[in-house]
Amino acid sequence: MLHRDGIDSLVLERQSRAHVLERIRAGVLEAGTVDLLRAIGLGERMDREGHPHDGSAIAWEGKPRFFIDTKKYTGKRMMAYGQTEITKDLYAARDAVGGPIIDEVSNVALHALTSSKPYVTYEKEGQSRRIDCDYVAGCDGYHGVSRASIPSDVLRTFERSYPFGWLGIMSETPPYPDLCYCYHSRGFALASMRNPMLSRYYIQCDLDARIEDWPDDRFWEELKARCPKDMADSIVVGPSIEKSIAPLRSVVAEPMRYGCLLLAGDAAHIVPPTGAKGLNLAVSDVFYLTRALTETLKSSRTHHLDRYSETALRRVWNAERMSWWLTMLIHQFPDEPPFERRLRENQFDYLHVSEHVQASLAEQYVGLPFEGY
Ligand code: PHB
Repeated sequence: MLHRDGIDSLVLERQSRAHVLERIRAGVLEAGTVDLLRAIGLGERMDREGHPHDGSAIAWEGKPRFFIDTKKYTGKRMMAYGQTEITKDLYAARDAVGGPIIDEVSNVALHALTSSKPYVTYEKEGQSRRIDCDYVAGCDGYHGVSRASIPSDVLRTFERSYPFGWLGIMSETPPYPDLCYCYHSRGFALASMRNPMLSRYYIQCDLDARIEDWPDDRFWEELKARCPKDMADSIVVGPSIEKSIAPLRSVVAEPMRYGCLLLAGDAAHIVPPTGAKGLNLAVSDVFYLTRALTETLKSSRTHHLDRYSETALRRVWNAERMSWWLTMLIHQFPDEPPFERRLRENQFDYLHVSEHVQASLAEQYVGLPFEGY
């Protein structure tokens, strides 16, 4: 996006390209993410290979399954298309214009961030190097150096963890036709997809669960036990090609700007996977960030740059609230007081009967608009 606006940039990556392209990540794109990818010329393969969808189902134990029709309430469609595929498309676009990506770098350090002459140092193949720049986009994830470069008396972190994780598998089998969230006394389960021959399933697991204890047979059996019978009967099982466990947590670090450093994506915030907001938030951050840098570097106005943090954070907190709400609604909480359990059941019943609540969820699920786009 910066290249399209005539701004030079250079990407520093800790891993190899092969490693980046091998990791299985998210895969549900909000309508705004889809529109943005198309607008910047990255929509072609997504439109060919992605799988559009118009809503999600919720299967609550002991109640009829129902569908939240996001298309009906918002007029917009979503898309199943893997983050790994987007990364592939981004590499291809970057290569096509000869944009530099320096991979396998180490010891990245950010310097003079509050001056007008910031610079970045790093090591590559044992040699130290330095890059002088105007701005640093900190897109290096939650464990990266960017957020850690903001002094602790400036940064505030808001955090919540949940007492369970998700065990996920990918299998080369035809997916269950709908994205379906299952609430069950054995624990939450989710059926999702990447393409017509690639299924993604998750089950809620204990925080101390270990992959070794979850051979494929046990996973499929547990998944099916948490779905309604007709759904379980139609799930096509097969060998997993990937299996991983992730704890669930919500984190926001504020502000997202410190001098010449602008944080984006997981460098500034984490959402639990419920609701599939993580990748989409990174995309909206990058939209705001590009707008801010382009305006400042092309016209010397700083309107968007001055508001980057507050604008991005408004959308971040909306997604934090939505993914927290869905996480709280749909999981089993160990030792939950009976009163709270009843509230959860009532929350679901209210969602089930009220078109207003469904419309509200649909609006957030499909993604709130980017401000000023
Ligand atoms: C996924 O396909 O990885 C996925 C889908 C929906 C969610 C979370 C994850 O809410």
